[in-house]
Amino acid sequence: MNTTKNYHMSADEFRKQGKQMIDWIADYYENVEKYPVLSQVQPGEISDQLPPAPPADGESTEQIMADVNSVIMPGITHWQSPNFYAYFPSNTSGPSILGDLLSSGLGVQGMIWATSPACTELETRVMDWLAAMLQLPEKFRSDSTGGGVIQDTASSAALSAVLAARERKTNYQTNDSGNTGQLVAYISNQTHSSLEKAVKIAGIGRNNLRLIGVDEHLAMRPDLLEAAIRDDLQNGRIPFFVCATVGTTSTNAMDPLTEIGQLCRKYDLWMHIDAAMSGTAAICPEYRHLLNGVELADSFSFNPHKWMFTNFDCNCFYVADRSVLIKTLSILPEYLKNRATESGAVIDYRDWHVQLGRRFRSLKLWFVIRHYGVNGLRYHIQEHIRIAQQFASWVQASAEFNLSAPVPLNLVCFTHKNGDDFNRLLLETINKTGKMYFTHTVVDGRFILRMCIAQTGTSLAHVRQAWEMIRQTAEELERNKQ
Ligand SMILES: Cc1ncc(COP(=O)(O)O)c(C=O)c1O
Repeated sequence: MNTTKNYHMSADEFRKQGKQMIDWIADYYENVEKYPVLSQVQPGEISDQLPPAPPADGESTEQIMADVNSVIMPGITHWQSPNFYAYFPSNTSGPSILGDLLSSGLGVQGMIWATSPACTELETRVMDWLAAMLQLPEKFRSDSTGGGVIQDTASSAALSAVLAARERKTNYQTNDSGNTGQLVAYISNQTHSSLEKAVKIAGIGRNNLRLIGVDEHLAMRPDLLEAAIRDDLQNGRIPFFVCATVGTTSTNAMDPLTEIGQLCRKYDLWMHIDAAMSGTAAICPEYRHLLNGVELADSFSFNPHKWMFTNFDCNCFYVADRSVLIKTLSILPEYLKNRATESGAVIDYRDWHVQLGRRFRSLKLWFVIRHYGVNGLRYHIQEHIRIAQQFASWVQASAEFNLSAPVPLNLVCFTHKNGDDFNRLLLETINKTGKMYFTHTVVDGRFILRMCIAQTGTSLAHVRQAWEMIRQTAEELERNKQ
């Protein structure tokens, strides 16, 4: 008889609770539309219900789940509701959740090939699958000079790109001696804030980040980019990095990749492409043109955790020359040395990003791609775009609302003709109802409404309902004003 004392959950108890948890999650998805999409709690309302001290003695899963239902759930904003149209999405799916659960169950930490060969080799294969699905150039494939790695977020991918660019430009001297303050990076004034953060973390300095102006569609202007590069060169600075965006966060603007890439070639700058949400559209042949120019890039990143039915977190980061990234980030302490690494025959992904330890994220991507197949994924992306275009056509046909930016894919930016205060009131009034959730941006000082259509369960009927609600609420607010 084993008399060793322990507090662990037994296999039988885990089996029982695990089945109940799957039921709980399945029920949640079936009923997700019954919750207010935007959590209605006030600041502190959740923490007030949580004991200040941890329990001395363990509690049952039933007790914990009772608190999930009564304390936690009111504080959830339901990102997986089909009525969620805010920000950029973070959608998911059954196969993704199962793959993630399996990853948790295996509890693998895949920092090097030897710590779980399958973790590394599945990731390499899935990243090559995705490269093929996006028709990325050969150089981004693992059997060529480059390859892909899964990172937590597009922010981490951007940081890795800035670091590799910095080292390539300074012949790996910055890693040894630190930055001299001469390096200069370029983004547009619409680029995601993660690039500014990356530049700060990489020690480039915010004063050495140039925000390039945009055209009438909010895309980076290559003529202004070249002027800024030339100006910096004339002043003895060292231009080293440009980020071009496929689908900016504010309005889904598309930077001209080819022109920017040609300038990067001309002046020997690292070109990074941030396609966080919109990159997923390029798995559909009719939207692949959005990536034209990627052949000139040094790195490319997109987030299956935004629009490809793969739960947060999952960013796919590709480099054209993996040796630069590895040389930038590689450190080999004695305790990580092993025969496989020394043979040079394996990939150790710990050298491809900032952190050492890594989750087995490729499992969920593998589950998603195998469950849907490429055709299934394309179908749902095309549907989202079709529904968004439909919404845009209703806006266009209405006398009260106008489109505020081109709608290349699934993000519709629009305004009511009554101006900023009215649009803000309209947004707040609708979001307070809990029936749907959408957000805003500001362009040229104007308050603009944004509807991003990308949730797994969103159908045309949901979006039609949303449009009716927006229209009717606007009418009511106008009546009340009079
Ligand atoms: C264009 C773009 N880039 C980068 C990011 C940052 O994404 P992450 O949360 O994966 O760092 C976002 C987030 O919405 C984005 O829209």
